[in-house]
Amino acid sequence: MFKPLDILDEKDKRLRAKSKNVEFPLSKEDKKTIQHIIDHLTYSQIEAYEKKYNLRPGMGLAFPQLGMLKRIIVIVHEYEEGKFDNYVVINPVIISHSTEMIATEAGEGCLSVNREVEGHVPRFARVTVEGYDEDGNKIQIRAREDLSVAFQHEIDHLDGILFFDHINKKKPFYSENEIRLI
Ligand code: NI
Repeated sequence: MFKPLDILDEKDKRLRAKSKNVEFPLSKEDKKTIQHIIDHLTYSQIEAYEKKYNLRPGMGLAFPQLGMLKRIIVIVHEYEEGKFDNYVVINPVIISHSTEMIATEAGEGCLSVNREVEGHVPRFARVTVEGYDEDGNKIQIRAREDLSVAFQHEIDHLDGILFFDHINKKKPFYSENEIRLI
């Protein structure tokens, strides 16, 4: 039986901590948590389950959002209507990125931030992320557009950074000729 995850709210100080690198092999517990996150994120993006379990839609989650200060991120990306790709990256690092910047026009959301936060979050349009899969194999992922935003958002969580930290308080919105809005 599926049970929704218990996700920390932004007021919890653990969300501001720096998470630690994970050593291999992963514990059974961590593997179970990863699967639980995949299930939660997938269900949250399918309307029938979203309603059934009263979930907020989200495409990514990082371990510290569950109070575990480990460098593990999970992204469930709906690349096509009803089709999902799962990304699990342990000890992720952005090894290169575009100079071009983008921002999601509607702003960003976070499963730990239970309020509307207005403003554009500048992100790299493309990133290359290096890290390890669950079995400890080195992996490299190239991400662009919304997937690139998701990787940057989740990796930020590992360093105690929340998306609204990047919003310019004096000028929260960019125009199309300052940044490409997606
Ligand atoms: Ni988040």
